Amino acid sequence: MEKKNLDWSSIGFNYRQTDARFVANYKNGAWDEGTMTDDATVVISECAGVLQYAQTCFEGLKAYTTEDGKVVCFRPDLNAARMADSCRRLEMPVYPEDKFVDAVVKTVQANLAYVPPFGSGATLYIRPYMFGSDAVIGVKPSEEYQFRVFVTPVGPYFQGGAKPITIRVCDYDRAAPHGTGHIKAGLNYAMSLYPIVEAHRLGYDENMYLDAATRTKVEETGGANFIFITKDGTLVTPKSDSILPSITRRSIVYVAEHYLGMKVEHRPVYFDEVKDFAECGLCGTAAVISPVGKIDDHGKEICFPSGMDEMGPVTKKLYDTLTGIQMGHIEAPEGWIKVISE
Ligand SMILES: Cc1ncc(COP(=O)(O)O)c(C=O)c1O
Repeated sequence: MEKKNLDWSSIGFNYRQTDARFVANYKNGAWDEGTMTDDATVVISECAGVLQYAQTCFEGLKAYTTEDGKVVCFRPDLNAARMADSCRRLEMPVYPEDKFVDAVVKTVQANLAYVPPFGSGATLYIRPYMFGSDAVIGVKPSEEYQFRVFVTPVGPYFQGGAKPITIRVCDYDRAAPHGTGHIKAGLNYAMSLYPIVEAHRLGYDENMYLDAATRTKVEETGGANFIFITKDGTLVTPKSDSILPSITRRSIVYVAEHYLGMKVEHRPVYFDEVKDFAECGLCGTAAVISPVGKIDDHGKEICFPSGMDEMGPVTKKLYDTLTGIQMGHIEAPEGWIKVISE
C-alpha cells in the first residue's frame, strides 16, 4: 500500500484531514451498526447537548509502524474502558467496549496510507469521541448521540530528543473533589485553556495542578500524570480520585515492577516532598514521558538533580523499556499490542 507523500518528521501536532472516519448514531435507546464515511463534517442541531451543556467526552491513542512493518496500537481496550467510565459519569450511553476497539481498528485500516513509517518518529493519532447531538434546552441529558473516530498523522513529539521542561505550580484548579477530573470530559479541557495560555505567556511549558481542597497534594498537568523517582530509585506516582487514570502511567508502573524490578508507590504525594525527589516526569500517550527539569513555585525553584540537559537515568530506563515494548524490540505483556495490519 502506498503511503501518502508527507514529510513525516516535520508534520507537527496538527489536525490533518484523512480519507475516512467511523460514525455511529444512538437513537431511540440503541446504537446503530455504524459505518465508515468520507464526510469530515458534523451537522447537528443548534441546540445540541454538546453545544449547550458540553455533553461530550473523548479518548486519545496512537497507531504506529513497528520495526517488522506491522501497524499496531497500544492497549486500546483500556481506552475503551475509560471512555465507558466517562460516558457513565456524563449520563451518556456507553459505546460497547469491543465495538470501540473494532471502530478504532477499522478507522486505522481505512487510513493505512497515513500511518507514518517505522523510524520516522511520527505516529497516527486516533481520536474516538462522543457527543449529545439532539436539541436540549432544559439542563438534562440528550436523547441522541454520535460516536465517531477520526485519525490524523502527527509528527515526533520531541524534535531532536526529549529535553527537560520547566513547569509552574498553578493557582487555578483543574478538577473539584468528587467532580469530573477522573474522566476525559471535554469540559475539563475547556477550563484548562486559560491557565495553559497564561503559563506559556509567562514562559512555562506546563502547569502543575494541586488538589483543589487543600492545595497541598500533587495532582497532574492539563494532559499528563506525574511520575517521580526517589533518591533510592523508587517510582512514586500520585494517587487521587480527581486525576485521569493515565494508561501510560499504569503501563510504566507495570514495567517498573515486572521488567525493571523497581519498588513502586502509588499514593498521595505532598507538594512539600517534591523537592526531595531525584527525577520528575510527565507521562501520557503524546510523549510517553517528558522529563521535568524545574518546577517554579511562585518564584521558589525546585531544580531536580537530573538537570535541564537530559532525562534522568531512571526515567530514561523506564522510557526505553516502555517504548521498546511498544515498538516490538522487547516482548510485550499479553494483550498490550493490538495488531491492526500485518
Ligand atoms: C488530564 C490528562 N491526564 C493524563 C493523560 C495521560 O493519559 P494517557 O497515558 O492515557 O494518554 C491525559 C491524556 O490523555 C490527560 O488528558
